[in-house]
Amino acid sequence: MKKKLIQQTTEHFEIMFQQKPDYIFLSPGRINIIGEHVDYNDGFVMPAAINKYICFAISKNENSKCTLVAKDLNDTYQFDINDELKPIDTMWANYILGVLQQLKEKGFAMSGFTIVFSSTIPMGAGLSSSAALECGIGYAMNKLFHLGLTKEDIALIGQKAEHTFAGVNCGIMDQFASVFGKKNSVIKLDCNTLEYEYYKADFKKYSLLLLDSNVKHTHLTSGYNVRRQEVELGLSIIKQHFPEVRTFRNCTESMVLELKDTLGETVFKRCHFVVNEIQRVKEAAEALNNSDFKRLGKLMSKTHEGLSKEYEVSCEEIDFLVDAVQHEKTVLGARMMGGGFGGCSINLVKKGSESKLIEKITERYQKAFGIELKAYKVKISKGASLYKN
Ligand code: GLA
Repeated sequence: MKKKLIQQTTEHFEIMFQQKPDYIFLSPGRINIIGEHVDYNDGFVMPAAINKYICFAISKNENSKCTLVAKDLNDTYQFDINDELKPIDTMWANYILGVLQQLKEKGFAMSGFTIVFSSTIPMGAGLSSSAALECGIGYAMNKLFHLGLTKEDIALIGQKAEHTFAGVNCGIMDQFASVFGKKNSVIKLDCNTLEYEYYKADFKKYSLLLLDSNVKHTHLTSGYNVRRQEVELGLSIIKQHFPEVRTFRNCTESMVLELKDTLGETVFKRCHFVVNEIQRVKEAAEALNNSDFKRLGKLMSKTHEGLSKEYEVSCEEIDFLVDAVQHEKTVLGARMMGGGFGGCSINLVKKGSESKLIEKITERYQKAFGIELKAYKVKISKGASLYKN
């Protein structure tokens, strides 16, 4: 699949521009084992890069003209690198323009270039195709123009691009995973300090299975930003009553419970989820270290309950997929993954039982919603990289 992607992207470049690309880059999507909606709440997260990629074929130009070709969308966008870059109606181009604008603001000089890109990361499935695009461009520009950026710089620039050009006030998890991903390793990231540790992604007799609801998260932008406002409000109220609290990191469940009426129903639920989720990630890291997969699975299912009932970022279809596996003996845990309002569920499943499970759930899902279920068995891979030059 990776080879085919690289081959097709390269061929497309050669057909369009009658030359070979100077560079080929790969930038991966991500999964997240646990720690959802806590990256922007000073929590911990446990993502990993996966073997689904955006492939970029790139050459530098002698002039300042830039041409972007989105092969899969059959769309092209052209501009001059010296133009003032602003968000446009072509959404896919914004992820790229946003990164370039960040680089320009930081004073980096770039000339024109030509890019063809193509992807095996499904869009809107909660696998961070947008972060892969942002970080792939950041990584490529760094190499092309010798900018001297660190991996952390590339991730932070990608995040800023998402804020300014895509309008999603996201945390750092997706971009971090896309850049720092390591083969067969899960990253435990402290979103407050950006310190990280790799954990061996060895699930022994179990594997990770993604079930894609095929519901595209159209409410993500608005719903996501509203959640951020709600928790910010919550934290400011908590701080007034408990001045020792600086972030959700040092806020306890009992503090939130004590302020239940003051916070009001909605803000209380959001904050209650956040403090518990931060705790769960610590327990999950321990469980993974001890190969205690039953415990890990239970924690994942608890996360889903919180995301669905308290943080309210799930949807009917995803709840159905998670409920449907609850009583399956071969499934240790399941939950909604990513920003929510659609996308994928992530399931910790006994190896060898995947096909039967997929068959069963596909049929039930089709009956309930008339939607075709997609399933992905993913491998944990390395972050953004130069494939060849
Ligand atoms: C999206 C955002 C991330 C993170 C997740 C939820 O993927 O881009 O920063 O907040 O949602 O955990």
